[in-house]
Amino acid sequence: MITLAGVSKAFHPGTPAEHWALRDVDLALEPGQVTVLTGPSGAGKTTLLLLAGCLARPTSGRVLFRGEPISHLGERFLAETRNRHIGFVFQQFNLLPGRSALQNVLLPAVPLGTPWRARLDRAQGLLETLQVGHRAHAEASRLSSGEQQRVAIARALMNDPEILLADEPTANLDAAAAERFVDLLARLHTRGRTLLLSSHDPRLVASGVAHRTLRLADGRLEEA
Ligand SMILES: Nc1ncnc2c1ncn2[C@@H]1O[C@H](COP(=O)(O)OP(=O)(O)OP(=O)(O)O)[C@@H](O)[C@H]1O
Ligand SMILES: [Mg+2]
Repeated sequence: MITLAGVSKAFHPGTPAEHWALRDVDLALEPGQVTVLTGPSGAGKTTLLLLAGCLARPTSGRVLFRGEPISHLGERFLAETRNRHIGFVFQQFNLLPGRSALQNVLLPAVPLGTPWRARLDRAQGLLETLQVGHRAHAEASRLSSGEQQRVAIARALMNDPEILLADEPTANLDAAAAERFVDLLARLHTRGRTLLLSSHDPRLVASGVAHRTLRLADGRLEEA
């Protein structure tokens, strides 16, 4: 589905601040597989997810989507690929401030042009599933961290993406909400979706939802 081939990522390359966040990473996300990525803070998990989600470009190596190299393609193409095929849950949520929870969840559907009523029903349904339906009209930045995280998950699922990339998606959730999220992952898996999650959360790692657990250490990827 998504392949990283010999991917390295440097921040501020060629300057005194040069920092290699990923080193020669090879990773193939097979269709329908659930992969959990662990590793200490600063190991490069977010960087890897952003590259896999076409939200950043590698310094060297290639990112392929369905076998086609895409990391060198233009921003418009990448944005379209992301919007149609990939849902992304950001570690810091990245909800648009000044918009309601519901408006945030609706946004990814705008370019697809689906009928308004269907969009609204889906967005509301997702917020209900994530138990934040009662906060649908609250301004996003006023929500608690756990509520924002669940709205971010709903937004990532809005276009029913084939691939879900989620960065520490349970970091702000209580035990019950984390358990419901694991159930949601299991349902997505049943429907053939491809999932890559970064997590420190022992609840997620122990849930048995993952087919594969990988570990990043200092930018290098290894089987956990
Ligand atoms: N924009 C940036 N500019 C410079 N360095 C960066 C940038 N983004 C990340 N880094 C560095 O790259 C390394 C990997 O960062 P990354 O955010 O991928 O780690 P992480 O594994 O997600 O950590 P955490 O568990 O704390 O979220 C870190 O040392 C970080 O300081
Ligand atoms: Mg991170």
